Amino acid sequence: MKKIIAGNWKMNGTPDETRERLEKMKTLIEPGEDEVIVFPPFVSLAVARECLAGTAIACGAQNVHYAEKGAYTGEISLPMLRELGVRYVLIGHSERRQHFGETDELLQKKVAAAIEANVVPVFCIGETLAERESGMALNVLSRQIEEGLRDLPPLNKDHIILAYEPVWAIGTGVTATPEDANTTMASIRDTLVLKGHPKNLSLLYGGSAKPDNAAALLNMQNIDGLLIGGASLEPESFAAMVHWRES
Ligand code: PGA
Repeated sequence: MKKIIAGNWKMNGTPDETRERLEKMKTLIEPGEDEVIVFPPFVSLAVARECLAGTAIACGAQNVHYAEKGAYTGEISLPMLRELGVRYVLIGHSERRQHFGETDELLQKKVAAAIEANVVPVFCIGETLAERESGMALNVLSRQIEEGLRDLPPLNKDHIILAYEPVWAIGTGVTATPEDANTTMASIRDTLVLKGHPKNLSLLYGGSAKPDNAAALLNMQNIDGLLIGGASLEPESFAAMVHWRES
């Protein structure tokens, strides 16, 4: 089965650094059976487009505003992203929820607008450590899905990708075990079905994924891909994860 290997660069990568990183990645990454996506910062998307033309690596943005244009100082719209060749957009990353106050209601508007604009949202959900320890993880995930996808018609694989990123595993070096992630992601699929969506939507795992755990995670039935932060910045480690089938 085709998997999705995605690199979330977060706030790393000036245009010059992006060019350097992508030129190196291109030499290491051969077109293969999996989908490869990188998510550079907004200001580096034009450079990324230029570097990635004619390659098998697609480009995504890390955030977006739901309106097409208007009086939203400092924001970036879907038409702007589309003109830069962007096909995917991260929505609801836990850092946006935590540090920028993005609410379920706002995220729903972004998801709906991205789908409408034919840009695939990679909609991120995940529980905090406190929520996990209090036994509330599944309730939290279910609420995030319910609210984030509210009022949307049944979605298919071409419309949306979901990413399960337990907040306690992001940037901490602590990964959910493949079995644990797989079990939680099976519950996420059940929740999606309950809300009227098909069971086969693509579901990524994110949170301290790295070259030495990529294959174990990707071999799990419910894990269709990885959303990789830190380990996606080094071309060698990202390429090693793209080539997980050979490990
Ligand atoms: P990490 O980040 O791989 O550095 O834990 C993942 C993410 O935040 O998407």
